[in-house]
Amino acid sequence: MVVERNRPPLHSSYVVSADTEPIHKLIGREIRAFLYEGDCLKLLAVIPPESMKLIITSPPYNIGKEYETEQQSLKEYLEFQAEVIAGCVRALDPTGSICWQVGNHVVNDGEVLPLDIVLHPLFKKLGLKMRNRIVWHFEHGLHCQRRLSGRYEVLMWFTKSDEYTFNLDPVRGPQKYPGKRHFKGPKTGELSGNPLGKNPSDVWIFPNVKNNHIEKTAHPCQFPVELVDRMLLATTDVGDAILDPFAGVSTTLAAALLRDRVACGAEIKADYVEISKGRMAQAIAGTLPVRPTGTPVYQPTTERIAQIPAQFLQARFEAIGGSAPG
Ligand SMILES: C[S@@+](CC[C@H](N)C(=O)[O-])C[C@H]1O[C@@H](n2cnc3c(N)ncnc32)[C@H](O)[C@@H]1O
Repeated sequence: MVVERNRPPLHSSYVVSADTEPIHKLIGREIRAFLYEGDCLKLLAVIPPESMKLIITSPPYNIGKEYETEQQSLKEYLEFQAEVIAGCVRALDPTGSICWQVGNHVVNDGEVLPLDIVLHPLFKKLGLKMRNRIVWHFEHGLHCQRRLSGRYEVLMWFTKSDEYTFNLDPVRGPQKYPGKRHFKGPKTGELSGNPLGKNPSDVWIFPNVKNNHIEKTAHPCQFPVELVDRMLLATTDVGDAILDPFAGVSTTLAAALLRDRVACGAEIKADYVEISKGRMAQAIAGTLPVRPTGTPVYQPTTERIAQIPAQFLQARFEAIGGSAPG
């Protein structure tokens, strides 16, 4: 259930600044969002302790993306991540959650290192407890030639204590058989499912933000609003504060604005800060293009491009004697 807290009404503005000072306006709920244009460590240093209810981010993976100025050694990368995580834990409310969304670091010779494996100990060392390792499955990405193509990333969800906010009802999903009834015992004949839907489980299936996605911007690796939306509905209440230390084009801040939370973040690249301004303004105005949470993944059926061309059938027959997938 979404709980209304006794807080002052939310002001409708956001601030973007290369000065950290506006964080105090956000904490005082004088503004709804604050994007710091600079290094997240500088922002983390001024966020009041225990003031953030949810910290959700997708950090750089250190795989040579255009926003990664120089590739670090794994040791340097983990040292930097440890410093950011320590700052986040300090800023986290005792009943709050941290979600680190990561994929694989790929070494030059093609060796794959799932980042959750090497980052998990950093969170444990600071006393956090993992509640779920959520697998986010999507269908589009690089077609690999020397290994299987990667089609999932993970969301590591930690809490600071055993007393943490978890609102299951707002994130329940549709049941496969909602009309199922008890077939024995005293409730025979009565509906057996939860009328609000089922627990969405730790496997999430929705598209990643590629070129034809309605939320796509110039950022090469933005995550979808739905990913943040589910976590914020489950782990925060209206008016709570959310932080994204690696904000990118401010998907987290926009998602928070859409659900009447307040949010702050840091982004080091000016181009993404510019795009963020537009997205936050659109979120406040209610015009941000968003793929609605819970929309089923599109399944092509009758379109021509969904049919197997005759040449492919012929090529498969010649290559493997006709036993290829139909
Ligand atoms: C994986 S992207 C995050 C994208 C974001 N989730 C979104 O939906 O737009 C990581 C971002 O962190 C930014 N970044 C890298 N190092 C940073 C630092 N020290 N402080 C703040 N931002 C940083 C990069 O420029 C990049 O935009």
